[in-house]
Amino acid sequence: MSESKPIPQMDLAAHYTAIGGEIREAVTQVLASQQFVLGKEGAALEREIAGLCGVQHGIGVASGTDALILALRAAGVAAGDEVILPPFTFVATGSAVSALGAKPVFADIDSETFNVHPDEISKRVTPRTRAILVVHLYGLAADIDPIRNAATRHGIPVIEDNAQAIGARYKGKPTGALGDLACVSFYPTKNLGAYGDAGMIVTSSGEIDARLRTLRNHGQASRYSSVEPGWNSRLDEIQAAILRVKLRYLGDWERARRTHAAHYSRLLASVREVKTPKTPEGYEHVFHQYTIRVPRRNELQKYLSDWMIGNAVYYPVPLHLQPIYASLGHGPGSFPEAERAANEVVSLPMFPELQAEQIERVAKAIAEFFAG
Ligand SMILES: Cc1ncc(COP(=O)(O)O)c(C=O)c1O
Repeated sequence: MSESKPIPQMDLAAHYTAIGGEIREAVTQVLASQQFVLGKEGAALEREIAGLCGVQHGIGVASGTDALILALRAAGVAAGDEVILPPFTFVATGSAVSALGAKPVFADIDSETFNVHPDEISKRVTPRTRAILVVHLYGLAADIDPIRNAATRHGIPVIEDNAQAIGARYKGKPTGALGDLACVSFYPTKNLGAYGDAGMIVTSSGEIDARLRTLRNHGQASRYSSVEPGWNSRLDEIQAAILRVKLRYLGDWERARRTHAAHYSRLLASVREVKTPKTPEGYEHVFHQYTIRVPRRNELQKYLSDWMIGNAVYYPVPLHLQPIYASLGHGPGSFPEAERAANEVVSLPMFPELQAEQIERVAKAIAEFFAG
């Protein structure tokens, strides 16, 4: 391969180059208003994100992690309860459960989709199960119908960790409307990213909405009247204003991601060693990540890095093998699909402004690596 410019795994600067003027204007307006917390930008963003997710209410909070902790709390999870979740996810999914003193109960993933396997969930329901926390990994919805059926049978709420899949769809329904509550992260690298930390919970329940508005604001049901211990977890006006600008482009950006993914998959189809991501019938993937499975993953990563091609592993250590969960006693082999994924996945460059020529360089490098 010839020397050429580095290809980043993601490129936030490309976004800013395209829409920086509108972002600066939106921030200037917030500065002029001198209202920084719980103002009209946050309220408008809550309506807009709820609309995008096809539900009634949005509650802005300080991060995706806070969204998870507060959603679990609003769903009734408390110390000693069990929450079922996949081990192949970012640690925040598990640590939110632990933050409430509850016990994460892991359920292995489906090897095709990287999302939790519905049959694995059913096996792990006990009288102590208080919630099922489903992750839509890499931008693809989990197979929610059988999960909801099991949850309904047992009278357990379903919470979506929708940090990575805002805008994705499952059988015509948007992620965010698939469970009882859903948590969004606006971490800067997400498909809809703020310029700092921010998050939101969405739900169609008026009761949960009211509870969450109290919980995120010191447990205050009205000013200076706290009815229960709460947090200070509010989405600030500057982040909300920035997110509202970016939200106008989200549909275009996600279409671009899908086009890039299709281009990668066409080019990589002839490389026998590469397993490209599948989108099951009836799903709409938003390709937060374009993640392939390969043998000799670490060697491929090094090869790509030597050719200045950005790449990343989400996630190299499943939750059950992380030091934080050593006390649960799960050794290697406990969740074989999650462990196999952790050893085989690599995410390729993916961002809306990626060029066809860059995708072709990445695919060529991968083909050359496996051709030896
Ligand atoms: C699957 C998943 N859950 C939770 C989070 C936590 O979100 P945040 O970083 O906004 O706290 C993230 C992202 O960081 C994530 O990818």
